[in-house]
Amino acid sequence: MVMSTGHEPRILLTRREVAAAVERLAGELTIEYREKKPVLVGALKGAFVFMADLMRRLDFPVEVEFVRLSSYRGTETTGEVAITGGLQIPVAGRAVLVIEDIVDTGLTTAFLIDYLRGQGPASVKLCSLLDKPSRRRVPVAIDYLGFTVPDEFLVGYGLDCDEQYRNLPDICVLEV
Ligand code: IMP
Ligand code: MG
Repeated sequence: MVMSTGHEPRILLTRREVAAAVERLAGELTIEYREKKPVLVGALKGAFVFMADLMRRLDFPVEVEFVRLSSYRGTETTGEVAITGGLQIPVAGRAVLVIEDIVDTGLTTAFLIDYLRGQGPASVKLCSLLDKPSRRRVPVAIDYLGFTVPDEFLVGYGLDCDEQYRNLPDICVLEV
């Protein structure tokens, strides 16, 4: 795809590698959640492609919810996150599985997990396609992980740069 910036994104993970990871994760999730009718909670917008592929690999009952999180990063030392638009599915007493595209600083995911824990679920676990541990600022335990990635800016498969590139089928590095 020709981009307006003039930079061609370089493929880091091909669509085939991503699909294989999704298949593996679905197998791991099946062992834990087959009988639990989990609520999958995706963080918009980035997680929607991963969620769509992953949920179709789960051959047991699930419910799907999305939350919108806004992060403000005014300084290097504080991160503030807010939920815009709450849960329509009540998660009290339910097995909740958070679906993330990427855990970077961890601020967004840590906030979401805290928020969900406050709703009285039976359990909250995290499934993230990508982990960028070099940038972590708060600890986040990833229970189900696709790939650990280097400290580069990634686009595609739902990940954006200023709302561009979400539609790339592979996960790419945006070189600037
Ligand atoms: P956090 O820094 O862990 O709070 O990540 C917050 C969000 O930033 C993620 O859910 C992504 O939507 C976005 N993000 C983090 N790293 C990247 C990246 O390399 N490319 C695109 N979006 C990213
Ligand atoms: Mg996200």
